[in-house]
Amino acid sequence: MSVATAERWERRVHLGAHPLLYPTIRSLGAVKPVMRIPGLGVLVSEARLVRDVLLDGERFVKNGPSASGGLWTPVVGPKALVNMDGAEHRELRRKLADLFTPASVAEIVQPASVALKARVEHDLDGPGRVDLVDCVKELAGGVISRLLGVPEHTPGRLPNKELFDLGSSISSLVRLGRPTLTPEQAAKGRAAVEVLAGPARSAYRDGDPATFPGRLRGLGMSEDEAMGIISAFVMVGTETLVSFVPRLVALLADTGRIEELVADRSGMGAAVNESLRFTVPSPMMLRNAVAPGNIGGTVVRSGDRILLSTIHAAKSLGGFNPGEPIPAQARQLWFGAGPHFCIGMPLAMAEITATLEVLLDRFAQRPWVIASRVVSTRVLIPGYRKLELANAL
Ligand code: HEM
Repeated sequence: MSVATAERWERRVHLGAHPLLYPTIRSLGAVKPVMRIPGLGVLVSEARLVRDVLLDGERFVKNGPSASGGLWTPVVGPKALVNMDGAEHRELRRKLADLFTPASVAEIVQPASVALKARVEHDLDGPGRVDLVDCVKELAGGVISRLLGVPEHTPGRLPNKELFDLGSSISSLVRLGRPTLTPEQAAKGRAAVEVLAGPARSAYRDGDPATFPGRLRGLGMSEDEAMGIISAFVMVGTETLVSFVPRLVALLADTGRIEELVADRSGMGAAVNESLRFTVPSPMMLRNAVAPGNIGGTVVRSGDRILLSTIHAAKSLGGFNPGEPIPAQARQLWFGAGPHFCIGMPLAMAEITATLEVLLDRFAQRPWVIASRVVSTRVLIPGYRKLELANAL
């Protein structure tokens, strides 16, 4: 158990996903904070400059021809936050400002975390092993069911794991080198969205404020806006979580910090934040420049694709150490900054904390260890494909 082991595993996770791109991006970032790469765009690797670009929503847009936003439009329609900019985007974000109150987040996450606890206990008490990646997929599926307005025990509703797979089949359409979707890919995505949208539309039309689609209606959202937002949540809020939670647990176990947190949970917030900094589940953000200018002294032309290397910006600040405060320029950069800042952050933090609590409670009762792990290969969001925990001997 050591920081070196933890860092070695994290490197394997990144190399599994991007065997060439990851080392290239890291080494270019170490050479220069801003660099034009012919054929690819302008790579920005320093936290302060990444933040400056994200904050300047007038000059750098998300829905331009070579940023990622527009990729989604044929699948989820034009009103999905991730493919909007300017006044229309600001207005929708304003309407959504009160979406995730502590009570509404608890209502969404609590049932899924109860199911997670039962699964962890069942698998560790029975077969003696539990796959944490699979557990987090179930948890994410449970959260999706609440977002669609079809809670547990709704007759005919898809199981959590299938809901997760549907969400994942949409988000996996995105690849870094893929500027547009083929008609077949868009049709596949739309078919998955339609399966998910069916129950969400009924819940919206019922207008029950106890359901998530009903709340969106209460906040003044049209049916199309509500469906776009729900699709965006399902698309972007599942893979990041399934990537992060097992890596968080691996980092804490590999560095011997699980025992510390079992003894004193006051360090949980710092441990989670430092793990987010060190893993950066959403490693790269894209923008299009719509006006000429410069970033950190490097000339930028209108139409340039801007590659924001959050991964280098955050990781280059130092090795994994929850005891060190995170420098101001990097704080929460893994959730973005400015107009597109992650709207799901309260939900994500609740899902992360709930899972960690379940595992710490179990550890206090009977310690567990990481029994086996396999990293995912050739995926957009790096992560473990399997992370098995087993009772310690
Ligand atoms: C650890 C988990 C998560 C991480 C690291 C993360 C990270 C991010 C980042 C970096 C952005 C900004 C992207 C950009 O500016 O280009 C973003 C946006 C967004 N996130 Fe998250 N996210 C997480 C979980 C979630 C969850 C659970 C949800 C919802 C269920 C969610 C919903 C969204 C949405 C809808 C946007 C787009 C907001 C907009 O464009 O206005 N995210 N997220």
